[in-house]
Amino acid sequence: MSGINIITFANADYNYQIKILQCMKNLIFTLTAILSLCGCALAQDIVLPAPDKAGGKPLMQALSERQTVRSFTSENLTLQQLSDLLWAAGGINRPGENKRTAPTAMNYQEIDVYVVLQSGLYLYDAERHILKLIKNKDVRRYTGTQSFVNDAAVNLVYVADMGKTGKREGVRIVDTDLFMPYADAAFIAQNVYLYCASANLGTVVRGSIVKEPLAVELGLRSNQIILLAQTVGKIR
Ligand SMILES: Cc1cc2nc3c(=O)[nH]c(=O)nc-3n(C[C@H](O)[C@H](O)[C@H](O)COP(=O)(O)O)c2cc1C
Repeated sequence: MSGINIITFANADYNYQIKILQCMKNLIFTLTAILSLCGCALAQDIVLPAPDKAGGKPLMQALSERQTVRSFTSENLTLQQLSDLLWAAGGINRPGENKRTAPTAMNYQEIDVYVVLQSGLYLYDAERHILKLIKNKDVRRYTGTQSFVNDAAVNLVYVADMGKTGKREGVRIVDTDLFMPYADAAFIAQNVYLYCASANLGTVVRGSIVKEPLAVELGLRSNQIILLAQTVGKIR
């Protein structure tokens, strides 16, 4: 009789533990679901403040001051400057239509802006206006051949996601497929030039990139093509 009792107690204990485990699993599942439903940023993503759309110099003044700069301090941009820079580059300026500050052929919106900071590699998520952490590694030196890229505060890399233009992975991509994406990336680059002129920051758009090792560092698929890069920083 006492043997049966021990077994019953042991079973009750076991059932109790299983119930606790199930509760914990449910809790984790619910929390994960809530986080993804809210679109919450993960701990190491950078949540940008709202862009300051009223700031900066008048357009005609910014145009008259637009220039290429190749000498930067290594000082970080403020979070507000980073926010304004990325919104100017390719942020959403008409939320109702999900349209951007830079035009794209057929409204493909195929240019991804990778943001290379000392703290790591990020992807600009325009809808949430955050920087999504891709990896915690300083890959600045892979973003170009000129020495200033190694310690400038920000290197942007413009990558065409050809999947958005109908080119699936494995499909051959030829030069003519890239005419429109290059034009689309150039509009982003000019937006960045104008923002930098307006905010007294330096910038240079760059074609001098060794693309293969950079693509590996960015973790790109075969139908994601690096087009241009652009360094931004405080002027030395
Ligand atoms: C498509 C493109 C690629 C460029 N690539 C580089 C580059 O790799 N390195 C660099 O130092 N400047 C680069 N530049 C910047 C030009 O050299 C610069 O715009 C030009 O000298 C005119 O100077 P400005 O921009 O001050 O008017 C590039 C410009 C463009 C438009």
